[in-house]
Amino acid sequence: MIIKEYVQQQKELLKEEIAKLERVPSFIIMQVNDDAASCAYVKGKIKDANEVGINVELKKFPIDISEEELLKEIDIVKHNPNIDGLIVQMPLPKHINEERIKLAVDPSQDIDGFHPMSKLLPCTPKGIIDYLKSENVNFVGKNAVVIGRSNIVGKPMAKLLLREHCNVTVLHSRTTREDMAFYIKHADIIVIAIGKTEFLNESFEYKPSAVIVDVGINRTEEGLKGDAKRGLPVALQTPVPGGVGLLTRLTLLKNLMDAYHNKMGK
Ligand code: GUN
Repeated sequence: MIIKEYVQQQKELLKEEIAKLERVPSFIIMQVNDDAASCAYVKGKIKDANEVGINVELKKFPIDISEEELLKEIDIVKHNPNIDGLIVQMPLPKHINEERIKLAVDPSQDIDGFHPMSKLLPCTPKGIIDYLKSENVNFVGKNAVVIGRSNIVGKPMAKLLLREHCNVTVLHSRTTREDMAFYIKHADIIVIAIGKTEFLNESFEYKPSAVIVDVGINRTEEGLKGDAKRGLPVALQTPVPGGVGLLTRLTLLKNLMDAYHNKMGK
């Protein structure tokens, strides 16, 4: 099933489940940066929540809010028993230490899955694994290549693929072109998240049975483009737009439901 349809179907199921709950699940989004990308992400998250019947409150703060003030706001949310989840939209302004903020979020409210003690998994990698499973992709003993080593995608993706029993290789900006070509040629699953328009193209060889998951969102003059060129000769390739971004947003809702149920002791 294409990702758009899969996400729609999953959202319908969530909506039915939420309608039967004794309390409406709620989360808060804290936004400090007012840049276009952050606003677009936040708008999408609010729209999704409204669609399935989840309560969401956006708290926007001025760009010069101090780290101490933001930490105080996070602490208030921590002690509010009616709030199941908290997202602090990244990136934060330079004068605020992102790692300190991530650690301040209560692990039980951390629906981004950023806290080391969080019971929940980061949304993008988890969304990818769930979707590939729905497509009956085999993981056991398969060669998975993760291109990119970010904290939000590359590193947690490698960890989750390992958990599914893949042979995992992580490639990055210091990998030589020759090695890149070698690993890609032998890959069964490729996840790319490097922010380089159409880095994967016809200049590489692929297994015809390979799966390419494209996490790239590159704004170009011709519109949004992925890290992989469309229509590569593989068995399954996720589109951009209308691909992994939708999976990330869906997983945020699922994480919130898990946080809600953990809190309600079910
Ligand atoms: N900025 C870009 N992606 C994300 C995300 O998944 N969560 C948060 N909190 N900020 C982001």
